[in-house]
Amino acid sequence: MIKCMNGRLKPFRYVLQITTMKKRLFSGIQPSGEVHIGNYLGAIKNWISLLDDYDCIFSIVDYHAITIEYDPGIMQERIINAAATNIAAGLDPDRCIIFVQSQVPEHTELAWILNSLTPMGILERMTQFKDKAQQNEKNINVGLFDYPVLQTADILLYKGCTVPIGEDQVQHVELSREIARKFNARYGDLFPEPQHLLSNAPRIMGLDGKNKMSKSMNNYISLIEEPEAIWKKLSRAVTDENRKRRDDPGNPDICNVYTLHKYFSTDSELDRINKECRSAEIGCVDCKRILSDNMIKELAPIREKSLELINNPANVIDTLNTGAEKCKKIAEETMKEVRSLMGLR
Ligand code: TYM
Repeated sequence: MIKCMNGRLKPFRYVLQITTMKKRLFSGIQPSGEVHIGNYLGAIKNWISLLDDYDCIFSIVDYHAITIEYDPGIMQERIINAAATNIAAGLDPDRCIIFVQSQVPEHTELAWILNSLTPMGILERMTQFKDKAQQNEKNINVGLFDYPVLQTADILLYKGCTVPIGEDQVQHVELSREIARKFNARYGDLFPEPQHLLSNAPRIMGLDGKNKMSKSMNNYISLIEEPEAIWKKLSRAVTDENRKRRDDPGNPDICNVYTLHKYFSTDSELDRINKECRSAEIGCVDCKRILSDNMIKELAPIREKSLELINNPANVIDTLNTGAEKCKKIAEETMKEVRSLMGLR
Protein backbone atom coordinates (compact mmCIF):
# COMPACT_ATOMS: atom_id res chain seq x y z
CA MET A 1 0.00 0.00 0.00
CA ILE A 2 1.08 3.60 -0.66
CA LYS A 3 -0.10 6.76 1.11
CA CYS A 4 -1.60 9.27 -1.32
CA MET A 5 -1.59 13.07 -1.03
CA ASN A 6 -5.05 13.06 0.53
CA GLY A 7 -3.78 10.69 3.22
CA ARG A 8 -5.72 7.68 1.88
CA LEU A 9 -4.02 4.36 1.30
CA LYS A 10 -4.01 3.01 -2.24
CA PRO A 11 -2.68 -0.30 -3.54
CA PHE A 12 0.76 0.13 -5.15
CA ARG A 13 -0.56 -1.38 -8.38
CA TYR A 14 -3.15 1.42 -8.68
CA VAL A 15 -0.59 4.20 -8.16
CA LEU A 16 1.77 2.60 -10.66
CA GLN A 17 -1.05 2.44 -13.21
CA ILE A 18 -1.85 6.16 -12.79
CA THR A 19 1.77 7.32 -12.97
CA THR A 20 2.61 5.22 -16.03
CA MET A 21 -0.58 6.04 -17.95
CA LYS A 22 0.30 7.17 -21.48
CA LYS A 23 -1.84 9.15 -23.86
CA ARG A 24 -3.83 7.01 -26.29
CA LEU A 25 -2.76 7.15 -29.93
CA PHE A 26 -4.93 5.78 -32.74
CA SER A 27 -4.35 5.48 -36.46
CA GLY A 28 -5.39 3.30 -39.36
CA ILE A 29 -4.58 2.12 -42.85
CA GLN A 30 -6.86 0.74 -45.53
CA PRO A 31 -6.25 -2.75 -46.95
CA SER A 32 -6.88 -1.41 -50.42
CA GLY A 33 -3.70 -2.55 -52.14
CA GLU A 34 -0.01 -2.75 -51.42
CA VAL A 35 1.38 -0.48 -48.72
CA HIS A 36 3.52 2.14 -50.50
CA ILE A 37 6.38 4.46 -49.60
CA GLY A 38 3.89 7.35 -49.21
CA ASN A 39 2.20 5.41 -46.38
CA TYR A 40 5.60 4.45 -45.01
CA LEU A 41 7.20 7.91 -44.98
CA GLY A 42 4.00 9.82 -44.25
CA ALA A 43 2.60 7.63 -41.48
CA ILE A 44 4.11 4.24 -40.63
CA LYS A 45 7.66 5.45 -39.83
CA ASN A 46 6.13 8.04 -37.52
CA TRP A 47 3.92 5.39 -35.86
CA ILE A 48 7.02 3.31 -35.16
CA SER A 49 8.87 6.26 -33.61
CA LEU A 50 5.93 6.92 -31.27
CA LEU A 51 5.46 3.36 -29.99
CA ASP A 52 7.13 3.93 -26.62
CA ASP A 53 5.65 7.34 -25.88
CA TYR A 54 1.97 6.48 -26.36
CA ASP A 55 -0.53 3.76 -25.73
CA CYS A 56 -0.83 2.84 -29.42
CA ILE A 57 -3.68 1.22 -31.35
CA PHE A 58 -3.48 0.68 -35.11
CA SER A 59 -6.30 -0.60 -37.25
CA ILE A 60 -6.52 -2.24 -40.65
CA VAL A 61 -9.69 -0.43 -41.66
CA ASP A 62 -11.50 -2.88 -43.93
CA TYR A 63 -14.90 -1.18 -43.53
CA HIS A 64 -13.37 1.94 -45.05
CA ALA A 65 -11.92 -0.07 -47.93
CA ILE A 66 -15.34 -1.38 -49.04
CA THR A 67 -16.55 2.13 -49.91
CA ILE A 68 -14.93 1.75 -53.33
CA GLU A 69 -15.14 -1.13 -55.79
CA TYR A 70 -13.08 -4.13 -54.60
CA ASP A 71 -12.73 -7.87 -55.06
CA PRO A 72 -14.14 -9.79 -52.04
CA GLY A 73 -12.05 -12.81 -53.06
CA ILE A 74 -8.80 -11.04 -52.19
CA MET A 75 -9.89 -8.92 -49.23
CA GLN A 76 -8.49 -11.31 -46.59
CA GLU A 77 -5.20 -11.52 -48.46
CA ARG A 78 -5.00 -7.72 -48.52
CA ILE A 79 -5.71 -7.50 -44.80
CA ILE A 80 -2.92 -9.96 -44.01
CA ASN A 81 -0.56 -8.20 -46.40
CA ALA A 82 -1.26 -4.80 -44.85
CA ALA A 83 -0.74 -6.13 -41.33
CA ALA A 84 2.38 -8.11 -42.30
CA THR A 85 3.99 -5.16 -44.08
CA ASN A 86 3.36 -2.83 -41.14
CA ILE A 87 4.80 -5.36 -38.71
CA ALA A 88 7.79 -5.98 -40.99
CA ALA A 89 8.42 -2.23 -41.22
CA GLY A 90 8.71 -2.11 -37.42
CA LEU A 91 5.23 -1.88 -35.95
CA ASP A 92 6.10 -4.24 -33.12
CA PRO A 93 2.94 -6.03 -31.88
CA ASP A 94 4.52 -6.37 -28.43
CA ARG A 95 4.48 -2.58 -28.06
CA CYS A 96 1.07 -1.78 -29.58
CA ILE A 97 -2.28 -3.22 -30.58
CA ILE A 98 -2.89 -4.07 -34.23
CA PHE A 99 -6.36 -5.24 -35.21
CA VAL A 100 -8.92 -5.41 -38.02
CA GLN A 101 -11.73 -2.86 -37.77
CA SER A 102 -14.58 -5.23 -38.74
CA GLN A 103 -13.65 -7.60 -35.89
CA VAL A 104 -14.96 -4.94 -33.49
CA PRO A 105 -18.53 -4.15 -34.60
CA GLU A 106 -18.79 -1.26 -32.12
CA HIS A 107 -17.05 0.88 -34.77
CA THR A 108 -20.14 0.88 -36.96
CA GLU A 109 -22.49 1.21 -33.98
CA LEU A 110 -20.73 4.37 -32.81
CA ALA A 111 -20.54 5.66 -36.38
CA TRP A 112 -24.34 5.44 -36.62
CA ILE A 113 -24.71 7.39 -33.39
CA LEU A 114 -22.25 10.04 -34.54
CA ASN A 115 -24.12 10.30 -37.85
CA SER A 116 -26.97 11.94 -36.02
CA LEU A 117 -24.61 14.66 -34.80
CA THR A 118 -22.97 15.33 -38.17
CA PRO A 119 -24.44 17.90 -40.56
CA MET A 120 -24.49 16.76 -44.21
CA GLY A 121 -23.01 20.12 -45.24
CA ILE A 122 -19.74 19.38 -43.42
CA LEU A 123 -19.34 16.03 -45.15
CA GLU A 124 -20.06 17.61 -48.53
CA ARG A 125 -17.04 19.85 -48.00
CA MET A 126 -14.58 16.98 -47.41
CA THR A 127 -11.86 17.21 -50.06
CA GLN A 128 -11.23 13.47 -50.08
CA PHE A 129 -14.92 12.76 -50.69
CA LYS A 130 -14.94 15.17 -53.63
CA ASP A 131 -11.77 13.57 -55.08
CA LYS A 132 -12.98 10.01 -54.60
CA ALA A 133 -16.44 10.83 -55.95
CA GLN A 134 -14.73 12.12 -59.08
CA GLN A 135 -12.57 8.98 -59.38
CA ASN A 136 -15.54 6.64 -58.74
CA GLU A 137 -18.28 8.41 -60.66
CA LYS A 138 -20.32 5.23 -61.10
CA ASN A 139 -20.24 4.32 -57.41
CA ILE A 140 -20.75 7.42 -55.28
CA ASN A 141 -22.31 5.55 -52.37
CA VAL A 142 -23.44 6.68 -48.92
CA GLY A 143 -20.49 4.84 -47.32
CA LEU A 144 -18.04 6.96 -49.29
CA PHE A 145 -19.88 10.08 -48.12
CA ASP A 146 -20.02 8.89 -44.52
CA TYR A 147 -16.41 7.66 -44.49
CA PRO A 148 -15.13 10.48 -42.19
CA VAL A 149 -17.79 9.70 -39.58
CA LEU A 150 -16.66 6.08 -39.41
CA GLN A 151 -13.09 7.39 -39.09
CA THR A 152 -14.25 9.59 -36.20
CA ALA A 153 -15.87 6.56 -34.56
CA ASP A 154 -12.58 4.63 -34.93
CA ILE A 155 -10.75 7.29 -32.96
CA LEU A 156 -13.39 8.12 -30.34
CA LEU A 157 -14.22 4.49 -29.55
CA TYR A 158 -10.77 4.27 -27.93
CA LYS A 159 -10.78 7.87 -26.69
CA GLY A 160 -7.81 8.53 -28.94
CA CYS A 161 -6.03 11.81 -28.16
CA THR A 162 -3.32 11.73 -30.82
CA VAL A 163 -3.78 10.70 -34.45
CA PRO A 164 -0.58 10.46 -36.54
CA ILE A 165 -1.49 10.74 -40.22
CA GLY A 166 -0.43 12.14 -43.57
CA GLU A 167 -1.62 15.56 -44.70
CA ASP A 168 -4.55 14.13 -46.70
CA GLN A 169 -6.24 13.03 -43.47
CA VAL A 170 -5.97 16.31 -41.53
CA GLN A 171 -9.43 17.49 -42.57
CA HIS A 172 -10.92 14.21 -41.32
CA VAL A 173 -9.28 14.57 -37.91
CA GLU A 174 -10.47 18.17 -37.68
CA LEU A 175 -13.96 16.83 -38.27
CA SER A 176 -13.53 14.22 -35.54
CA ARG A 177 -12.66 17.05 -33.13
CA GLU A 178 -15.81 18.86 -34.10
CA ILE A 179 -17.98 15.76 -33.65
CA ALA A 180 -16.37 14.98 -30.26
CA ARG A 181 -17.09 18.54 -29.15
CA LYS A 182 -20.71 18.22 -30.28
CA PHE A 183 -21.19 14.92 -28.50
CA ASN A 184 -19.71 16.26 -25.26
CA ALA A 185 -21.84 19.42 -25.40
CA ARG A 186 -25.06 17.53 -26.10
CA TYR A 187 -24.72 14.43 -23.94
CA GLY A 188 -21.93 15.09 -21.42
CA ASP A 189 -18.15 15.06 -21.36
CA LEU A 190 -16.87 11.75 -22.63
CA PHE A 191 -14.48 12.13 -25.55
CA PRO A 192 -11.12 13.91 -25.78
CA GLU A 193 -10.81 16.15 -28.83
CA PRO A 194 -8.34 14.25 -31.05
CA GLN A 195 -5.27 16.11 -32.33
CA HIS A 196 -3.54 15.19 -35.57
CA LEU A 197 0.20 14.68 -35.71
CA LEU A 198 2.12 15.01 -38.98
CA SER A 199 5.43 13.35 -39.84
CA ASN A 200 8.38 15.05 -41.57
CA ALA A 201 6.96 13.73 -44.87
CA PRO A 202 3.27 14.67 -44.72
CA ARG A 203 2.71 14.58 -48.48
CA ILE A 204 4.83 12.31 -50.66
CA MET A 205 4.21 12.93 -54.33
CA GLY A 206 3.77 10.09 -56.80
CA LEU A 207 6.28 9.11 -59.49
CA ASP A 208 4.29 11.26 -61.93
CA GLY A 209 5.51 14.23 -59.88
CA LYS A 210 2.02 15.76 -60.08
CA ASN A 211 -0.32 13.83 -57.81
CA LYS A 212 -0.03 12.61 -54.24
CA MET A 213 1.39 9.09 -54.17
CA SER A 214 -1.60 6.77 -53.86
CA LYS A 215 -2.75 3.28 -54.65
CA SER A 216 -5.59 4.54 -56.83
CA MET A 217 -3.30 6.68 -59.04
CA ASN A 218 -0.88 3.80 -59.69
CA ASN A 219 2.03 6.19 -59.20
CA TYR A 220 3.64 4.42 -56.27
CA ILE A 221 6.49 2.17 -55.16
CA SER A 222 5.29 -0.50 -52.79
CA LEU A 223 7.18 -1.54 -49.66
CA ILE A 224 7.48 -5.06 -51.02
CA GLU A 225 8.46 -4.08 -54.54
CA GLU A 226 11.09 -6.31 -56.19
CA PRO A 227 14.47 -4.51 -56.51
CA GLU A 228 14.31 -4.56 -60.33
CA ALA A 229 10.79 -3.13 -60.20
CA ILE A 230 11.98 -0.27 -57.97
CA TRP A 231 14.60 0.64 -60.56
CA LYS A 232 12.15 0.24 -63.45
CA LYS A 233 9.60 2.52 -61.78
CA LEU A 234 12.17 5.12 -60.71
CA SER A 235 13.77 5.20 -64.14
CA ARG A 236 10.45 6.48 -65.51
CA ALA A 237 9.80 8.93 -62.65
CA VAL A 238 9.25 12.56 -63.60
CA THR A 239 12.11 14.92 -62.65
CA ASP A 240 12.60 18.67 -63.22
CA GLU A 241 10.62 19.01 -66.46
CA ASN A 242 12.62 22.06 -67.55
CA ARG A 243 15.70 19.89 -67.86
CA LYS A 244 15.31 18.64 -71.40
CA ARG A 245 18.83 17.41 -72.18
CA ARG A 246 21.62 15.78 -70.16
CA ASP A 247 23.74 18.96 -70.42
CA ASP A 248 21.01 21.28 -69.12
CA PRO A 249 21.48 22.29 -65.49
CA GLY A 250 18.68 20.92 -63.26
CA ASN A 251 16.81 22.39 -60.32
CA PRO A 252 16.52 20.00 -57.35
CA ASP A 253 14.06 22.38 -55.64
CA ILE A 254 11.35 21.38 -58.10
CA CYS A 255 12.39 17.76 -58.64
CA ASN A 256 10.37 15.01 -56.96
CA VAL A 257 13.21 12.51 -57.32
CA TYR A 258 15.45 14.85 -55.33
CA THR A 259 12.71 15.16 -52.69
CA LEU A 260 12.64 11.36 -52.38
CA HIS A 261 16.43 11.38 -51.93
CA LYS A 262 15.84 13.37 -48.70
CA TYR A 263 14.24 10.28 -47.15
CA PHE A 264 16.59 7.59 -48.44
CA SER A 265 20.02 9.16 -48.97
CA THR A 266 22.69 10.49 -46.64
CA ASP A 267 23.32 14.21 -46.06
CA SER A 268 26.58 14.10 -48.00
CA GLU A 269 24.89 12.36 -50.95
CA LEU A 270 22.17 15.00 -50.87
CA ASP A 271 24.71 17.85 -50.92
CA ARG A 272 26.63 16.29 -53.75
CA ILE A 273 23.55 15.57 -55.87
CA ASN A 274 22.18 19.04 -55.26
CA LYS A 275 25.43 20.66 -56.42
CA GLU A 276 26.13 18.31 -59.33
CA CYS A 277 22.55 18.48 -60.63
CA ARG A 278 22.66 22.29 -60.73
CA SER A 279 25.96 22.21 -62.63
CA ALA A 280 24.85 19.32 -64.90
CA GLU A 281 27.77 17.19 -63.72
CA ILE A 282 25.24 14.49 -62.91
CA GLY A 283 22.29 13.47 -65.11
CA CYS A 284 18.81 12.35 -64.06
CA VAL A 285 19.63 8.70 -64.78
CA ASP A 286 22.67 8.77 -62.46
CA CYS A 287 20.66 10.56 -59.79
CA LYS A 288 17.86 7.99 -60.03
CA ARG A 289 20.35 5.14 -59.88
CA ILE A 290 21.69 6.39 -56.52
CA LEU A 291 18.14 6.79 -55.19
CA SER A 292 17.20 3.33 -56.44
CA ASP A 293 20.23 1.71 -54.75
CA ASN A 294 19.49 3.44 -51.43
CA MET A 295 15.79 2.65 -51.58
CA ILE A 296 16.45 -1.00 -52.38
CA LYS A 297 18.85 -1.15 -49.42
CA GLU A 298 16.32 0.31 -46.97
CA LEU A 299 13.33 -1.66 -48.24
CA ALA A 300 15.07 -5.05 -48.62
CA PRO A 301 14.70 -6.14 -44.96
CA ILE A 302 11.06 -4.96 -44.91
CA ARG A 303 10.31 -6.90 -48.09
CA GLU A 304 12.06 -10.00 -46.80
CA LYS A 305 10.28 -9.97 -43.44
CA SER A 306 6.90 -9.14 -45.05
CA LEU A 307 7.14 -12.07 -47.43
CA GLU A 308 8.14 -14.36 -44.58
CA LEU A 309 5.02 -13.29 -42.60
CA ILE A 310 2.73 -13.39 -45.62
CA ASN A 311 3.85 -16.89 -46.59
CA ASN A 312 3.24 -18.18 -43.09
CA PRO A 313 0.37 -15.98 -41.89
CA ALA A 314 -0.54 -17.86 -38.67
CA ASN A 315 1.43 -15.41 -36.51
CA VAL A 316 -0.12 -12.38 -38.17
CA ILE A 317 -3.62 -13.83 -37.74
CA ASP A 318 -2.85 -14.53 -34.09
CA THR A 319 -1.64 -10.96 -33.58
CA LEU A 320 -4.80 -9.57 -35.20
CA ASN A 321 -7.10 -11.80 -33.14
CA THR A 322 -5.37 -10.84 -29.89
CA GLY A 323 -5.57 -7.19 -30.94
CA ALA A 324 -9.29 -7.46 -31.67
CA GLU A 325 -9.96 -9.06 -28.27
CA LYS A 326 -8.20 -6.21 -26.47
CA CYS A 327 -9.98 -3.59 -28.55
CA LYS A 328 -13.36 -5.24 -28.06
CA LYS A 329 -13.04 -4.80 -24.29
CA ILE A 330 -12.21 -1.10 -24.59
CA ALA A 331 -14.94 -0.58 -27.21
CA GLU A 332 -17.62 -2.28 -25.09
CA GLU A 333 -16.77 -0.02 -22.15
CA THR A 334 -16.98 3.12 -24.27
CA MET A 335 -20.29 2.04 -25.79
CA LYS A 336 -21.76 1.45 -22.32
CA GLU A 337 -20.85 5.02 -21.43
CA VAL A 338 -22.20 6.36 -24.72
CA ARG A 339 -25.54 4.55 -24.37
CA SER A 340 -25.90 5.57 -20.75
CA LEU A 341 -25.28 9.27 -21.52
CA MET A 342 -27.71 9.12 -24.43
CA GLY A 343 -30.49 7.43 -22.46
CA LEU A 344 -30.43 4.45 -24.79
CA ARG A 345 -30.20 1.54 -22.38
P1 TYM B 1 -4.77 5.39 -46.06
O1 TYM B 1 -4.92 3.93 -46.02
O2 TYM B 1 -5.11 6.11 -47.32
O3 TYM B 1 -3.29 5.81 -45.69
C1 TYM B 1 -2.66 5.40 -44.48
C2 TYM B 1 -1.80 6.53 -43.97
O4 TYM B 1 -0.81 6.90 -44.94
C3 TYM B 1 -0.88 8.31 -45.17
N1 TYM B 1 -0.55 8.58 -46.59
C4 TYM B 1 0.39 9.43 -47.01
N2 TYM B 1 1.23 10.23 -46.33
C5 TYM B 1 2.09 10.99 -47.06
N3 TYM B 1 2.12 10.99 -48.41
C6 TYM B 1 1.30 10.19 -49.13
N4 TYM B 1 1.36 10.18 -50.45
C7 TYM B 1 0.38 9.36 -48.42
N5 TYM B 1 -0.57 8.48 -48.80
C8 TYM B 1 -1.12 8.01 -47.66
C9 TYM B 1 -2.31 8.68 -44.87
O5 TYM B 1 -2.44 10.06 -44.59
C10 TYM B 1 -2.61 7.81 -43.68
O6 TYM B 1 -2.16 8.40 -42.49
N6 TYM B 1 -8.77 7.30 -43.79
C11 TYM B 1 -7.47 6.74 -43.53
C12 TYM B 1 -7.49 5.50 -42.64
C13 TYM B 1 -8.22 5.65 -41.35
C14 TYM B 1 -7.74 6.33 -40.22
C15 TYM B 1 -8.75 6.15 -39.20
C16 TYM B 1 -6.60 7.09 -39.96
C17 TYM B 1 -9.41 5.09 -41.03
N7 TYM B 1 -9.76 5.38 -39.73
C18 TYM B 1 -8.61 6.73 -37.96
C19 TYM B 1 -6.47 7.67 -38.68
C20 TYM B 1 -7.48 7.48 -37.71
C21 TYM B 1 -6.86 6.36 -44.86
O7 TYM B 1 -7.52 6.26 -45.83
O8 TYM B 1 -5.56 6.05 -44.81
